[in-house]
Amino acid sequence: MGDAFFRHIVAGMRNGVLAIARDGALRLMNSEAYRIFGVAHRPDDIGRPVASVLASHPDVVRTLLAAFDLHLLPNRAELRLRPSGKVIGYTVALIREDDGEVVGAAMFFKDLTRVEQLEERERLRDRLAALGEMAAAIAHEVKNPLAGIEVLAGLLRRKVPDAPEVQGMLADIINEAKMAAGIVQEVLDFVRPIRLHVEPIPIDGALQAAVHLAGTKVDPGGITVAIDVPAALPQIQADQHQLAQLFTNLLTNAYEAMEGRGTVSIKAMTTRLDDGGDGRDAVIVSFDDDGPGIEPEVAEKAFSPFFTTKPQGSGLGLSIVRKIVDAHDGRIDLESTPGRGTTIRVSLPVVADTGL
Ligand SMILES: Nc1ncnc2c1ncn2[C@@H]1O[C@H](COP(=O)(O)OP(=O)(O)O)[C@@H](O)[C@H]1O
Ligand SMILES: [Mg+2]
Repeated sequence: MGDAFFRHIVAGMRNGVLAIARDGALRLMNSEAYRIFGVAHRPDDIGRPVASVLASHPDVVRTLLAAFDLHLLPNRAELRLRPSGKVIGYTVALIREDDGEVVGAAMFFKDLTRVEQLEERERLRDRLAALGEMAAAIAHEVKNPLAGIEVLAGLLRRKVPDAPEVQGMLADIINEAKMAAGIVQEVLDFVRPIRLHVEPIPIDGALQAAVHLAGTKVDPGGITVAIDVPAALPQIQADQHQLAQLFTNLLTNAYEAMEGRGTVSIKAMTTRLDDGGDGRDAVIVSFDDDGPGIEPEVAEKAFSPFFTTKPQGSGLGLSIVRKIVDAHDGRIDLESTPGRGTTIRVSLPVVADTGL
């Protein structure tokens, strides 16, 4: 086997490989190494001092040059590259001739950034799962006393028909208790796993139900809701309750943003969902409001749990929306022009592939 064979092994390796001679001249650097270091390949790199080829990575150069002086070479050590923030896991080895004389040093490394991110996400998921269980337990415990406060305040109200001042206070207590109960319910909806009861649902029916429900949560005032659903729109396989909640959350957000005036225009039509194959039949429902719109830095976080711009908001409305859309294997996107309004489009497959 000739030299070429070994060169091809190194070139094709999915690890970064870097080798220098005793004098610090670069002897070998494969394409994975160029990619990880983010260095542009120059035809005359081989033979140049490694310190100049990798001028942007002095840590790497230092590690490699130190190999000649160390007794114990780093094995499976890690290094964070600046400024990319990439983490590499590396091993350093000396290159010896047949007689044992050290003629160079080599570094083998791998980009660990993705591995690190996966681990980080895993840790986050564990933490969220534990938090979710705790939140569910607390929410559940808080629910009953809140309902008690509301009921008792209502009873008390009836006992003092002639005391308008007390009446007012009790009305406030009832409202606050209702609001707290609403937030508790949102937390429960957010942390509980969704179990879908799928059946054929007409979109216009689900929208009517949502308009009704949204009206009980936020006073629409003078807002007009215009629903445009073609008669021939197919029914979709969905969970009736979840679908109503999805649409309700989008409507209450629009109501809250619009402050009692303007129009929410809801349109539905058929579409195809790209699934990497031929695509699937789907229905797209768009909610178009002419409220204040959303600034880009808010839009970016709008779907994050607990993100809210409202003093009394839970920040869970859109997280629940996303969760329901995901459970139906659908898609959602948000488009907004500050000062002009917001459009949220939800696409739901006609037949959900929920894996159930
Ligand atoms: N239609 C909309 N118009 C303007 N802002 C919106 C709209 N929908 C959502 N938002 C923004 O997204 C944030 C997050 O919404 P959401 O998750 O429902 O939580 P919450 O309604 O409790 O604040 C809102 O606080 C608001 O700033
Ligand atoms: Mg909301």
